[in-house]
Amino acid sequence: MRILSGMRPTGPLHIGHLVGALLNWREFQKENECLFMVADYHALMSEYKSPQDIKNFSIEMVKDWIALGIDPEKSIIFLQSEVKEHLELFMILACLTPLSWLYRSPTFKDQIKELKDKEITNYGFLGYPVLQTADIILYKAERVPVGSDQLPHLELAREIVRRFHFIYKTQIFPEPQPLLSKTPKLLGLDARKMSKSYNNYIALSESPDQIKKKIMSMFTDPQRIRLSDPGHPEVCNVFNYYLIFKKEMTSDVKDWCINAKKGCTECKKILADVLIEYLRPFREKRKDLTDAYIEKVLKEGNKKARAIASATIKEVKSVMGL
Ligand code: TRP
Ligand code: SF4
Repeated sequence: MRILSGMRPTGPLHIGHLVGALLNWREFQKENECLFMVADYHALMSEYKSPQDIKNFSIEMVKDWIALGIDPEKSIIFLQSEVKEHLELFMILACLTPLSWLYRSPTFKDQIKELKDKEITNYGFLGYPVLQTADIILYKAERVPVGSDQLPHLELAREIVRRFHFIYKTQIFPEPQPLLSKTPKLLGLDARKMSKSYNNYIALSESPDQIKKKIMSMFTDPQRIRLSDPGHPEVCNVFNYYLIFKKEMTSDVKDWCINAKKGCTECKKILADVLIEYLRPFREKRKDLTDAYIEKVLKEGNKKARAIASATIKEVKSVMGL
């Protein structure tokens, strides 16, 4: 199966991206043809006032991907803005996408609310899901790994595909289906959604000292005040981290928590070591990846992506009689 996914390079990746997306990507590439895209034009839609950061975030993001085992020999890793066909198909799809579909998109409304300080009620931003549709169908991707927040975009992508097929009396694109992660969501240090804007995340590139500091600041079971109070792991975010990063320890954690054998401070100290250890191979691999190497990976990926994309554009123009 052909799979495509992308991320916007708007800041450092964190352990939420790891658990929510990258571990799955790494698995998918074993048995599928995968394309992983740096969505720099999608980043530009909200960051157009400071576009100079996008380039560096892109390089750093691809470093994270590769250090985690996304393999440029197996998968195509590329930069959206270097494959001009995205914009050609975007333009064509923009012509046939009714404005009402875009206005009613829940993500559009949410983002306007969430990014209040960003002035994104722009022409380009309204077309965000149209460009995303172009990203996907340009490669005729059948499956798209995304978070549940992206489901409305995929629904819209399928509607656009159906409209294209209907208007031009053709069936050239698969209707892209989402691939949702099975891992439970990793919450932020304060147990809200992990997000850059809440500053409650642990970046993948953080040092062991920083990881420790952040883990020690995590919220725990609010009912457990003294060491002698029994805890409730099922409501504790720290316990949830154990479930994700060291499943085999969870029965021990339950025991020391419920039976008040260890306090929360000690429990978090142990978790910090677990996470530092978990990320060790990543940290070691990442420090050997130079910018020049990443540029080379992208250059090769762009070339491979272009080959597929230009064939699709030819086909699109041909069915339209352009
Ligand atoms: N909109 C996606 C996000 O914010 C990023 C993205 C852009 C994407 N193009 C894509 C994801 C194509 C999947 C497929 O997460
Ligand atoms: Fe959470 Fe650990 Fe404290 Fe239990 S002991 S409440 S699992 S931090």
